[in-house]
Amino acid sequence: MEIHYGTFEDSWFGFEPMLMRLIAERNVRHICEIGGGANPALPLDYLTERGIEYTVLDISKEELAKAPAGYRTLHQDILSPALAVHDRFDLVFSRMVAEHVNDARRFHGNVHRLLRAGGTAFHYFPTLMAVPFMANKVLAGPVSRWLLTMVQGEREQMGRHAKFPAYYKWCRGPIPRQMRRLQRLGYLIDAYHGFFGHTYYARVKPLYEIHRALTRMLIRHPVPAVTAYAYLVMRKVTAPYAETTRATGSPP
Ligand SMILES: C[S@@+](CC[C@H](N)C(=O)[O-])C[C@H]1O[C@@H](n2cnc3c(N)ncnc32)[C@H](O)[C@@H]1O
Repeated sequence: MEIHYGTFEDSWFGFEPMLMRLIAERNVRHICEIGGGANPALPLDYLTERGIEYTVLDISKEELAKAPAGYRTLHQDILSPALAVHDRFDLVFSRMVAEHVNDARRFHGNVHRLLRAGGTAFHYFPTLMAVPFMANKVLAGPVSRWLLTMVQGEREQMGRHAKFPAYYKWCRGPIPRQMRRLQRLGYLIDAYHGFFGHTYYARVKPLYEIHRALTRMLIRHPVPAVTAYAYLVMRKVTAPYAETTRATGSPP
């Protein structure tokens, strides 16, 4: 397993190259993006040139309707106990979605079901152990929105991401507990990248400078429990844990 650390900027600008590298290296032909909604991550011309079949799955009809024309869409809750598709995709990925689902076991279990044997799951998500995300989870909606608006500005808070509630279930950096629960679901973890820092304090200069210094220190001496974002790359290796449990009768 490859564990790697970087900054928020590394994660933001590295996401598309990482996705494209996985597609090229793993000879991916069938992709499902979870929660791609209004803004699918890969451009249509890239997909067409490579003959890739790409499905954008989202719980929201309204978000899917905003996606540019030409994408194949699937209106589905990823937490549904009855998925429309099984064992189909070479790659299932999500960007800024894992924190919005309130049942992480089912989320990762259902992604596992969507994948063919040996298929790849790739998720990019904020991890709970950064102060703004903690505030978002712990404080009531209007209070957390007010705080974030103070440090981040009205414009960003009005943005698309503000309207989806966040739970941060299983949204952690590369800590052993997190790895164990994913392995129990039938995943082999190929890579877990943790990223430090964020841009939420950008408007408050002194706070931002302290934050930048702390981030630099964490890059030199990484603490996996306090990452702000993560990439998770996994492969489907066995039947999902829930099914194994049912078959053997062993406790969860
Ligand atoms: C913050 S947006 C991210 C959109 C896009 N991935 C991006 O990076 O711009 C979260 C998306 O996840 C979708 N979503 C939330 N819960 C979901 C669920 N249970 N099943 C499928 N999609 C879900 C929302 O409708 C929304 O489109």
